[in-house]
Amino acid sequence: MTVTLITGANKGIGFETARQLLELGHVVYVGARDVERGEKAAAALGARFVQLDVTDDASVNGALAAIGSAEGRLDVLVHNAGVLGNDGVDGPAALRVFDTNAVGIVRVTEAALALLRRSSNPTVVTVSSSAGSFWAVNNPDRPEFQLPLSLYSASKAAATMLTVQYAKSQPGIKFNAVEPGTTATDMTAAFGIGRSPEESARTVVRLATLDVDGPTGTFQDETGVLPW
Ligand SMILES: NC(=O)c1ccc[n+]([C@@H]2O[C@H](COP(=O)([O-])OP(=O)(O)OC[C@H]3O[C@@H](n4cnc5c(N)ncnc54)[C@H](OP(=O)(O)O)[C@@H]3O)[C@@H](O)[C@H]2O)c1
Repeated sequence: MTVTLITGANKGIGFETARQLLELGHVVYVGARDVERGEKAAAALGARFVQLDVTDDASVNGALAAIGSAEGRLDVLVHNAGVLGNDGVDGPAALRVFDTNAVGIVRVTEAALALLRRSSNPTVVTVSSSAGSFWAVNNPDRPEFQLPLSLYSASKAAATMLTVQYAKSQPGIKFNAVEPGTTATDMTAAFGIGRSPEESARTVVRLATLDVDGPTGTFQDETGVLPW
């Protein structure tokens, strides 16, 4: 059995990733900051639930300790939790967005490393964004060229760089970042754009189910490796 933890899995792309990995036979832990929302999602999926707020060290450490006690290892970690943070640009707003989208990755990865090292095929997927890609935001043919989300973009650039740096520092564990594609979730509801979470989750699932000799340190979308 493959033991998988997905952060922010109570809705959206994380929820659909959980559903598809359950279909593949994974034991899936739905991480959610809100107990009620998380338990409801886990029950609907037939998954397990852990309370996990990526901005709270005690919550993160408690979640990984609970998985360690129950399973003894972690095979797949999906950093999916994220916020758009489009309510102004100032210091407190920047701290909030970076705390969730970038620092949260450090918190959860550091708490998970010991359990990942006990897996025979440890894999970490970061749901990043090409809004954080220098190539995409400077390319007039890409939708990200027009995107005025400076804090979100900068935090996703950090998320992708963390992926590359962890891939280098942890050669026994695969770390890949993914651009899931523009998706109709609560995050994008105000813009009325995007395809179904089911479709976008397929790319996350592809990177979460790599063979032991699969790639590491890459940034990919459904078409393969992206420049960033
Ligand atoms: N939608 C897109 O077009 C798109 C494109 C590129 C990348 N992405 C990325 O895909 C990921 C999933 O986004 P989505 O579109 O599925 O959005 P979503 O439906 O808004 O889901 C975001 C999830 O993150 C959770 N979350 C937020 N802050 C958290 C925290 N501090 N601790 C734990 N969980 C937290 C939310 O929980 P609550 O329910 O408690 O708020 C929710 O479960 C994000 O990283 C996003 O940046 C999305």
